[in-house]
Amino acid sequence: MHKLSIDNFRSLDERDIVDNPYVSRDEYRVLFDIIESNDIKNILEIGVSYGRTSRNILKNFSKIERYIGVDVDEFHSFEKIPSQVTERPSCPGEFALSLNDSRFEIFLFPNGIEDLKGFDGFFDLVIIDGDHSYSGVKKDTSFAKKLIRKNGFIFWHDYDNLAGVNKFIDEYNSSDSVVFVRGCRCCYDQIFGTVIRQSKKR
Ligand SMILES: C[S@@+](CC[C@H](N)C(=O)[O-])C[C@H]1O[C@@H](n2cnc3c(N)ncnc32)[C@H](O)[C@@H]1O
Repeated sequence: MHKLSIDNFRSLDERDIVDNPYVSRDEYRVLFDIIESNDIKNILEIGVSYGRTSRNILKNFSKIERYIGVDVDEFHSFEKIPSQVTERPSCPGEFALSLNDSRFEIFLFPNGIEDLKGFDGFFDLVIIDGDHSYSGVKKDTSFAKKLIRKNGFIFWHDYDNLAGVNKFIDEYNSSDSVVFVRGCRCCYDQIFGTVIRQSKKR
């Protein structure tokens, strides 16, 4: 795994960001740098929750054309990690929906991403932050690879934090293409693209 320091990523400066109990400012720094430095127009977030990350991205990037957020509905069974039921939002997507921004759409499905149809090869960036079990991250990654365009990015949250996420990504990383940022709980991979991309500080 390629390990980078947070200093490789542009600082957030005066960005308009609502605090998120799930995502730190350094993790936004990585995500924002990926978006800013690459041709990213269409984003999918698996596990959109209250829509804080989608709100923060849409507020700061006018170049984003579509942002699809997926979460689970009340028929979803949290059998793999029952405690994850507490994370299911009471008002899904509310922060992003409050922007009244037509670029944002939210889908709530009983089975998560496998119920999303019609977007094969469409996304430039897929954020995986839903079911954090080993099999959940594996399934979401497999769908992400179908939904993403060539040279698009997958960004996983909760690496270096949750055992199931670590186990899957360590296996997935057999070709050593994944980038991990020290001190953050996130990593990313450019699918079918060049191995590594370091960005300049702003
Ligand atoms: C840690 S929160 C995500 C935080 C969010 N990404 C953010 O940045 O604010 C996890 C979310 O994943 C959702 N979730 C759990 N299992 C899922 C699945 N199989 N598919 C999609 N979403 C799932 C939960 O309902 C919850 O909203």
